[in-house]
Amino acid sequence: MPHDQPPTLPVPDAMSAAHSERVAAFIRKQIETSGGRVSFAEFMQHALYAPELGYYTAGATKFGEAGDFITAPEVSSVFGKVVARQCAEVMRQLDGGAEILEYGAGSGTLAADVLEALESLDALPSAYNILEISPDLRERQEACLRQRVPDLIERVTWLDSPPTAMHGVVLANEVLDALPVERFVRRGTGVMQQCVAQGKGGFEFVETVASARLASAVTAIEDEVGAQFPDGFVSEVCLAVPDWIADLSAALIEGVVLLFDYGVSRREYYSAERSDGWLRCHFRHHAHNNPLVLPGIQDLTTWIDFTAVAEAAVAAGFDIVGYAAQAQFLLAGGLDVEMQGFAELSLEKQLELSRQVKTLTLPGEMGEHFKCMALQKGTIAPPSGFSLADRTHTL
Ligand SMILES: C[S@@+](CC[C@H](N)C(=O)[O-])C[C@H]1O[C@@H](n2cnc3c(N)ncnc32)[C@H](O)[C@@H]1O
Repeated sequence: MPHDQPPTLPVPDAMSAAHSERVAAFIRKQIETSGGRVSFAEFMQHALYAPELGYYTAGATKFGEAGDFITAPEVSSVFGKVVARQCAEVMRQLDGGAEILEYGAGSGTLAADVLEALESLDALPSAYNILEISPDLRERQEACLRQRVPDLIERVTWLDSPPTAMHGVVLANEVLDALPVERFVRRGTGVMQQCVAQGKGGFEFVETVASARLASAVTAIEDEVGAQFPDGFVSEVCLAVPDWIADLSAALIEGVVLLFDYGVSRREYYSAERSDGWLRCHFRHHAHNNPLVLPGIQDLTTWIDFTAVAEAAVAAGFDIVGYAAQAQFLLAGGLDVEMQGFAELSLEKQLELSRQVKTLTLPGEMGEHFKCMALQKGTIAPPSGFSLADRTHTL
């Protein structure tokens, strides 16, 4: 069945619609040259990252009120200030020359907030490197940093691949959720794979026998959760995670990786109630679950199986030194210190700041679904952001 645009979604303007049609044409070509279908991960890769066309690689607004979704750094600079405190804690324990590497820096807001806060803590890194696969976002990040922290811009470098032999902190806020995933369906004793084909009315899902890699990943998950999934159970597996973490491990000699994302443990991820998976689409702040419409102009994202991340990290030589809900991480990591001047603010500023902090910390907002996971190399003390509540044992 072709997937129609859900009726509640806003209608894209003419320019966006024309852009989406160009992305659709690109994907149709890929489908044609691949023999009539592409895997869902390939579809997601093209829709998000096709050169000069994809959602992240072309010029869509994406972040903030005028875009499609909002991330923690876009909610409030308090997020970056607390992250900066955690970076400072780690870097102070390392012998000089500590660096920060940020993956997928989005609009550049987090980089600017962290650099500003580290300057005021007298704890600037020797370098702030950004690894961003979108040329459009690199430009936006540079413009943001030139405007916000002109005196610190010479410390910032955009890399094309992870550095080698780095000491310091790696940051990735909502990057794992933007990695392409495969979708599978359990059919009796078989594991099927959802692929994407061109139908009469647009893109449509077609099922094929799962690739050997996907099928063995699904049966390994079933072995671990202790039962075969019921017939018709659909979910996702991010086969890209182990390589992504292995690259990180090859880059970092000593220090900490802080991963922020919405996600759960494997048991919750593959629980019976979640029989349609964790893939979500965002268009102009409307969340829905049809990834096949609006290619290139809507965000496609999945929640994270943090057990899979932890397993890949341990296999790559990291220690897991913390896993906490975002609210707990912020509270333990210095949110109270950041709020100390609250009483002196104008009423208007107080209201604004308390609204932002609520969004970052309330369980129904970003406080509970969003997690922070810390991976570490070396014998330094783990970041204090996990001192209130560490849920590593739940993974
Ligand atoms: C959901 S956005 C988050 C942006 C930003 N971190 C924030 O919190 O606002 C995902 C970001 O990750 C980038 N990205 C996706 N895959 C990546 C990869 N393999 N390496 C580096 N960046 C990547 C995207 O281009 C985008 O900047």
